[in-house]
Formats: sequence, structure tokens, C-alpha cells
Amino acid sequence: MTDATPQSPMSSGEQPASGPPATEVAAPMRYFPSLTGQPALVTGANSGIGKAVALGLAKAGADVVVNYVAEPEGAEEVCGQIRAMGRKAIAIEADVSVEAEVVAMFAKAVEAFGTLHIVVSNAGLQRDSAFDAMTLEQWNKVISVNLTGQFLCAREAAREFKRRGLDRSVSMAAGKIICMSSVHQQIPWGGHVNYAASKGGVMLMMKSIAQELAPQRIRVNAIAPGAIRTPINKPAWDTPEAYESLMTLVPYNRIGEPDDIAQAAVWLASDAADYVTGTTLFVDGGMTLYPGFSTGG
Ligand code: BGC
Repeated sequence: MTDATPQSPMSSGEQPASGPPATEVAAPMRYFPSLTGQPALVTGANSGIGKAVALGLAKAGADVVVNYVAEPEGAEEVCGQIRAMGRKAIAIEADVSVEAEVVAMFAKAVEAFGTLHIVVSNAGLQRDSAFDAMTLEQWNKVISVNLTGQFLCAREAAREFKRRGLDRSVSMAAGKIICMSSVHQQIPWGGHVNYAASKGGVMLMMKSIAQELAPQRIRVNAIAPGAIRTPINKPAWDTPEAYESLMTLVPYNRIGEPDDIAQAAVWLASDAADYVTGTTLFVDGGMTLYPGFSTGG
């Protein structure tokens, strides 16, 4: 790195703690590339990972559109926290699986902030079922929110980034799209076939968009969270027994926290990641390392 802007090295001379992690928390946010002047839109930002990402981007200097589909109080609370940091925030209700709502949300966002530089397609859900009992409704719901929703948001983002074009005084890229994927873009997941199919779809959609838009200097990447402590997977961590069983799948031996994902999103959205496009960043404590093989095989 040639200059000493806020994008300074991660930390100096800190030693990793020895032994197993004493607490089950994400590392404190020490490293903040500047996202000043780069308005962001985060879908599903009223809770869980989306909320942490919205707050993380704001901490790094971005004004943020907080999208939600239900629970406006959550979205307003996130907006309040962002404003308390001195950034602008607006909550916009939209169902990401409905084209007209997505188009209207982007129009409102651009009206409010002038443009967007960062779009994090985070909204997602599960409708779990044994495969032979899975209804078409369960299948369609998951595909329409997790995959079609990401298509619609990425398309609107690309349109806005192309309209505005490159402004190197703000960012080296004309825009950044971050798709929230999952370890289940890679790990098959019985009982969750619709979800795994949606995330597998996100992976190749993301790569194909990245390939197509790279010449316009639009970067498109994904984050693949592992087990993160959020409402979507509460049964997997909210009792000691469930937690212990979950840990057999996580070599790093702690659950992920939403802030673990927020830090990855801030980095991917920043010019620190300017040469990174079409990639999936796994933030999973080693879940994709086939932990069963540490002793078996
Ligand atoms: C799912 C969670 C699950 C995690 C790891 C995520 O994508 O939404 O429910 O705990 O993957 O299996």
C-alpha cells in the first residue's frame, strides 16, 4: 500500500490469543476502509446479518438504505443507529421477489442519496422440509426470495452503476454488488433442498454477472456465511446441546457473529478489494473444510 489513508494496515503487532477462544464473539472492528461518499443499499437490513452489514457500512462512512419487508420497527431502529453515527439512513419497504417493488425501491434510493455505489443483496429465508414432503410453494418461495430477489436487485444495481459511470474521486469501481450466499452453495443440505439450490444458483449467477460487468468496472462478489448467530438458525445454537452439536461442524469452535460478516462486507465493498471480482468469500470458521475428515478418512 502506498499511501496512509484510512485504509491503513489491519492491526499492528497483535498476537492471536493462545488456546481456544475465551468468548464466542466476533473480533472487534479494528479495520475500516473508508466508504465515505458511497451510498449503500442493504436488503433484509432490519435484523440479523443484514442489520450488522448496514451498521458496518455506515461505520465505514456510507449512507445506507435499510430495506425490510416486515417489522418496520427493526428497520427504524437500524436507521436510528446509523444516524447516531452521523450518516444518513432511510428505511424502504420492498419485497425483493416482486419486480415492481424492487424497481421502486431503487428509484427512491437514488432520489434520496443521488446514486448508489454498494448493493448488498442479503434478504433470504428458509422453508425447510423433507424432500418428498416439500411443497411447490415452499420451493417457489425460497427460490423467489433468495435467487430471483438477488437477480432483481443486482440488475437494478447494474443499471444505476452504468448510468452514473466511474467516478474515481469516490471509488476505483463504478459500483459493487455483494450477494449473500451460504456455505450451502457448496455443501449439500438434506432437508433444505430449496435453500441449497437457491444458494448454488446465487453462486453461478454472481460469477456470470461479474464476468459480464467487469469491463464496466462493476465488481460482483459473494459472501458465504457459515453458522452465524441469527434468528434464521436459532434452533441450531440456542441450547447447550444444540450448540455442542453445531460445533462438531465448525473447526474454529465458535459460532459466527453477524459482525464477522459485516467486516467481510466492508472489505469487499471497499477499494481495498478493488481487484476482487467474481469470488465467494467464505466466512465460516472452517465449516467447508470437511471437519469429519480431521480424524476420519
Ligand atoms: C443457513 C443456516 C445454517 C448455516 C450453516 C446458513 O446459510 O441459513 O440456517 O445454520 O447456513 O449450516
